Amino acid sequence: MSTAAGSVCICEKVIEGSKYYRPTRVLTGAKRSLTANSKPHSFRHSIPPSQVYRKASFWVMAATSESMTQVTVTGAGGRTGKIVLQKLLAQPEKFSARGLVRNTKSAEKLQGEGVPADRLYVGDIVNGTEELRKSLAGSDALVIATSAVPQIKPLSLLTVFWKKLLRQEGARPEFSFKEGQFPEQIDWLGQKAQIDAAREVGVKKVVLISSMGGTDKNHPLNKLGNGNILIWKRKAEEYLINSGGMKYTIIHPGGLIDEEGGKRELVLGVDDELLKNTSRSIPRADVAELTVQCLTLAEADNRSIDVITKPPGEGTPTTDYAALLTSLKEDCQYGAVAKPALSA
Ligand SMILES: NC(=O)c1ccc[n+]([C@@H]2O[C@H](COP(=O)([O-])OP(=O)(O)OC[C@H]3O[C@@H](n4cnc5c(N)ncnc54)[C@H](OP(=O)(O)O)[C@@H]3O)[C@@H](O)[C@H]2O)c1
Repeated sequence: MSTAAGSVCICEKVIEGSKYYRPTRVLTGAKRSLTANSKPHSFRHSIPPSQVYRKASFWVMAATSESMTQVTVTGAGGRTGKIVLQKLLAQPEKFSARGLVRNTKSAEKLQGEGVPADRLYVGDIVNGTEELRKSLAGSDALVIATSAVPQIKPLSLLTVFWKKLLRQEGARPEFSFKEGQFPEQIDWLGQKAQIDAAREVGVKKVVLISSMGGTDKNHPLNKLGNGNILIWKRKAEEYLINSGGMKYTIIHPGGLIDEEGGKRELVLGVDDELLKNTSRSIPRADVAELTVQCLTLAEADNRSIDVITKPPGEGTPTTDYAALLTSLKEDCQYGAVAKPALSA
């Protein structure tokens, strides 16, 4: 897969005799001092090349690798998207990665964690089509890690607290979504916009991080803020499958937890059957690793899979992802689930 013309790679170290480079302090948490690219793409000012080179404290070289896969990660400021982006940036010999985040606050946070500013684009997937397209231009692959994020209603916490005090059962906090940020907008229209833009710019593969539970329209997650989140996510999955021309992998993780990756055995399944297991969680870092692997493994092409992990200490931590994917002989089926009336 080829590198986009004119793209640059900011390098700390050139590997002797090699055309590959190490990226700038990726994952180190250190702030960069490179003035030219210290702002993400949507608000970067132009600086004369001479000044760029004078102020740069790192090597700046044209990226020329023929074998590098250019990847755009959306939702790169999110908890899983961020790990995907960092994993890709840590493999400069294989990937050239960039991330799309919703706002400058997310971009600055990622920069503070060592992601070079020139790898960041700021844009809204629903209302920022132009920036979305810019972030995708020249990409071979797209990772979709965006999602509507339910917000807890603060007053409902008071009710929960009060009922707990009175030892009444069944008290649950309530959730809502911000105006314009409902699952219909983000998980359906926003994902559709990404899929459409990817197809238009010639992306060849999309890896979509979705969720388990989509076979059950009455799943409790659909009740959160009356958002029907799993229904909208599933609609986007079907759109991707039917969009034609691009390869895809749809990943349905179980409950996401923040834990170190690479310590557990991954278990694949289809059609939410794994929800019958008592242990149904998976570290975000393991979802991120599976996502990265799916970008280049042919065994992942045009698949829709569920994934959880065994509890720590059970089984053997997964390392061979091709074997893992080959071991699953089926794919999630679509169309059998009763669909609610959708307005879009
Ligand atoms: N939580 C679970 O247990 C669970 C289980 C299974 C599957 N999943 C799914 O797994 C995926 C990853 O989950 P996660 O918890 O890591 O995600 P997350 O932290 O909630 O990240 C979602 C990202 O989407 C971004 N986003 C939302 N609306 C956007 C918009 N209009 N434009 C641009 N970006 C937008 C958010 O941006 P901001 O940072 O600006 O908000 C955020 O960075 C999601 O699809 C989630 O639904 C979650």
